[in-house]
Amino acid sequence: MSLDAMPYIGRYSGATPNLFVATGFGKWGMSGSMLSAMILTDMIRGVENPYGELFSPSRSMLHKQLLQNGVETSRSLLRPTKPRCPHLGCALHWNSAEHSWDCACHGSRFDAQGKRLNNPATNDLKNPPPQ
Ligand code: FES
Repeated sequence: MSLDAMPYIGRYSGATPNLFVATGFGKWGMSGSMLSAMILTDMIRGVENPYGELFSPSRSMLHKQLLQNGVETSRSLLRPTKPRCPHLGCALHWNSAEHSWDCACHGSRFDAQGKRLNNPATNDLKNPPPQ
């Protein structure tokens, strides 16, 4: 997961012109890997890609979304509610449309009985409150 919810695709750094990176797909690896292949192939061939700058690992992270993510994560970590995510302890929110406990921090999800539906949490939720 990247800070601005966009993958990092491109040169690892300005000091390493032959080292490339493709990561931060936010659970969209199948489509992100195809996009990465197109961008990195163009970069290696010296062809300008119209999306190269957009996904550049060197792009500025000073966006409004970064501030929003920081506020949401801080609020979630400080909120004295249960249940807490077994991944890193963020507060879970009941999703009444999906009937699941969802974690806003990194995307883990659990069913109403606490069984893990999505990573990165590796454990089930213990004793979820009834809904
Ligand atoms: Fe919930 Fe990371 S703290 S997924």
